[in-house]
Amino acid sequence: MPKTLERPRLRDFPYLVELRRDVEERRRLFSEPDLTYFFWECTLRCNLRCTHCGSSCGPTRKDDELTTEQICAILDTIGEDFDCSRIFVSITGGEPLLRQDLYEVVAHMTGLGMRTCIVSNGTLLTPQRAARLYDAGMRTISISVDGNQRTHDAVRGEGSYVGALAGITNAVEAGFEVVEAITCVRPANLPVLSLVERGVREAGANLWRLITIDRMGRLEGATDDEFWLDSPQVNYLLDYIDQRRVDLARQGDPFDVGFSCGGFIGLRREKAIRGDHNQCHAGLCVGSVLSDGQVSACPSMPRSWAQGNALETRFSKIWFERFADYRDEKIRREGVCADCSWYDVCLGGGLHERLAQPDQFCWLERLQG
Ligand SMILES: C[S@@+](CC[C@H](N)C(=O)[O-])C[C@H]1O[C@@H](n2cnc3c(N)ncnc32)[C@H](O)[C@@H]1O
Ligand code: SF4
Ligand code: SF4
Repeated sequence: MPKTLERPRLRDFPYLVELRRDVEERRRLFSEPDLTYFFWECTLRCNLRCTHCGSSCGPTRKDDELTTEQICAILDTIGEDFDCSRIFVSITGGEPLLRQDLYEVVAHMTGLGMRTCIVSNGTLLTPQRAARLYDAGMRTISISVDGNQRTHDAVRGEGSYVGALAGITNAVEAGFEVVEAITCVRPANLPVLSLVERGVREAGANLWRLITIDRMGRLEGATDDEFWLDSPQVNYLLDYIDQRRVDLARQGDPFDVGFSCGGFIGLRREKAIRGDHNQCHAGLCVGSVLSDGQVSACPSMPRSWAQGNALETRFSKIWFERFADYRDEKIRREGVCADCSWYDVCLGGGLHERLAQPDQFCWLERLQG
């Protein structure tokens, strides 16, 4: 059990009440799953080869990929079995812009009533491609910016920073309503976060999400600290986000800064920097189709957690009948969580974090060092 944060303090009670409400909702989803967030991992090909890529992507990858007809047929079954007006689709990869049929598939999703976004490295997002995505019905885009120019290019390759910021600007000019920058924070870019913010704001982003790096994909089994924040650094990051949110609100500035989804980060911080419903919902309201048609909860889960292939079995059948492991509290209560007094607001942390770093997934422990 985490050592020093065993009991809530009196001033934390309002947060505790809100989090208990959230957790009741999450527990209900164990028995009544409700698909509202759908990832399509459209390819594992990528024009870049980032050092930390959690999906091990790169220019030389060649994997089986769904054809246009196959993904559209799977989407049609989802259209028949779920209320698509409640589904937000995040198209990720690999690099989604490498798929020539992206616009056609996005238009198909829009036709079914889904709202869509892509997560992209931005370097291929020309004004023409941004306009085509907009015309296909997309209104949200997320572009990875992993530092200022020096620290971004160090992991994503020379020229990629300029390309990512141009992608942001092209999305804004095409009319996208939400243009989000995503930063994977590591020791090297932690000291330059204010420069990263300035860069993405000048390019036109209206939202900035900071995330930490997991030991998966190309970093699977890594033990060095190049991509891992230690306890003071994690505290610094969360305090930084907290302070930026306070300052922006005080200034009436609509630019929004937030933290990624994942395991419980403490009562006050959970509400102050994450907002509502952002603890891990993998397999509860979040489902995915991976590049080859396998069905999983989110693309960050190991492939071994896929529960079938949507080319062989209807997506809804897999979602409703085969996702037991995602909805099993026994698994979440194992190990360090077994006698933790926070279990009832945490439910055992973020699933992909649990699997990527089994000895270091508990955020309260990470924060305490
Ligand atoms: C795998 S990428 C695919 C989309 C696109 N190619 C990009 O880089 O934005 C999706 C997101 O995961 C992030 N990511 C990559 N490796 C990661 C890791 N090891 N841990 C956490 N996030 C990671 C990326 O920065 C990006 O924001
Ligand atoms: S993080 Fe994105 S841009 Fe980088 S190699 Fe992976 S898929 Fe490509
Ligand atoms: S992950 Fe959550 S339930 Fe598990 S030990 Fe940490 S705080 Fe407790």
